[in-house]
Amino acid sequence: MQTLGSKMQPVLYLCLLLMPCLFLVEEAHAACHGGISLRSQRMALLHWKDTLASPPVQMSSWQENTTPCNWTGIVCTAVRHGRRMPRVVTDISLPDAGIRGQLGELNFSALAFLTYIDLSNNSLHGALPASISCLSSLLELYLPYNQLTWKIPYEIGGLQSLRVLELSFNRLTGHIPASLGNLTMLNDLIIDQNMVSGPIPEEIGRLVNLQLLQLSNSTLSGLIPKIPWKSDPTKYFELIW
Ligand SMILES: *[C@@H]1O[C@H](CO)[C@@H](O)[C@H](O)[C@H]1NC(C)=O
Ligand SMILES: *[C@@H]1O[C@H](CO)[C@@H](O)[C@H](O)[C@H]1NC(C)=O
Ligand SMILES: *[C@@H]1O[C@H](CO)[C@@H](O)[C@H](O)[C@H]1NC(C)=O
Ligand SMILES: *[C@@H]1O[C@H](CO)[C@@H](O)[C@H](O)[C@H]1NC(C)=O
Ligand SMILES: *[C@@H]1O[C@H](CO)[C@@H](O)[C@H](O)[C@H]1NC(C)=O
Repeated sequence: MQTLGSKMQPVLYLCLLLMPCLFLVEEAHAACHGGISLRSQRMALLHWKDTLASPPVQMSSWQENTTPCNWTGIVCTAVRHGRRMPRVVTDISLPDAGIRGQLGELNFSALAFLTYIDLSNNSLHGALPASISCLSSLLELYLPYNQLTWKIPYEIGGLQSLRVLELSFNRLTGHIPASLGNLTMLNDLIIDQNMVSGPIPEEIGRLVNLQLLQLSNSTLSGLIPKIPWKSDPTKYFELIW
């Protein structure tokens, strides 16, 4: 008993040490479950509109007491939820709209059903928020021609369904996060015309579905990592470097 007890002790301490981390992980995960209610999705969108510097005319239909499914740039889709088929916000598409504000003000945990975001060519500034990883159903994310700064967050690796990531013509800095290697469904990875630097992480080599990798005019160094599918003639692949 004595020896077993002293053998168990380090394990016990380790468990105690890890406990707070486990809680944090759970909390972060829980923070992503905004639920199915169209009301909270509308609230999140209206809050974002409120934070914008002079919301553009395209957003004049974004009003209290109307369904967001009727708003310009918003698409809803019916999803199965138990025995019901409620409608949820799945698309935000407002390119070239002159939106001036921050993505960090958009409560992504309330918009977990988004599959498509196109906010190309607006004036979004500030960071690409880590909370974007809540969008586990997101298929396509278009944010080129904005003024996004700071680094691409590590949490982007949580966008497990993503097919297209387009971030070109922004002011992103820092390294390309290795967590991008988690996005194994990715077809297009377009990060050119930014200020990202450092080596290209070798995890990019895990993106077996990649068809377009566009990294030109950034201050990247080092070699393109071994890309096993690059020489596979059965696969279309283009590298713009
Ligand atoms: C974001 O949305 C979630 C889900 O609706 C909500 O619980 C949370 O309070 C919202 N956060 C903010 C900062 O409004
Ligand atoms: C949506 O807008 C159309 C007209 O643009 C209107 O006829 C319809 O009643 C609206 N639906 C809801 C639920 O507000
Ligand atoms: C961006 O949008 C503006 C209108 O807001 C348009 O004049 C311009 O051509 C667009 N630029 C690109 C690169 O699409
Ligand atoms: C990426 O995947 C690894 C396991 O393959 C996991 O440990 C890690 O948390 C993931 N990262 C993100 C940002 O999702
Ligand atoms: C590369 O980016 C810089 C600014 O980051 C810009 O001034 C320059 O025109 C770009 N060059 C090309 C060839 O696109």
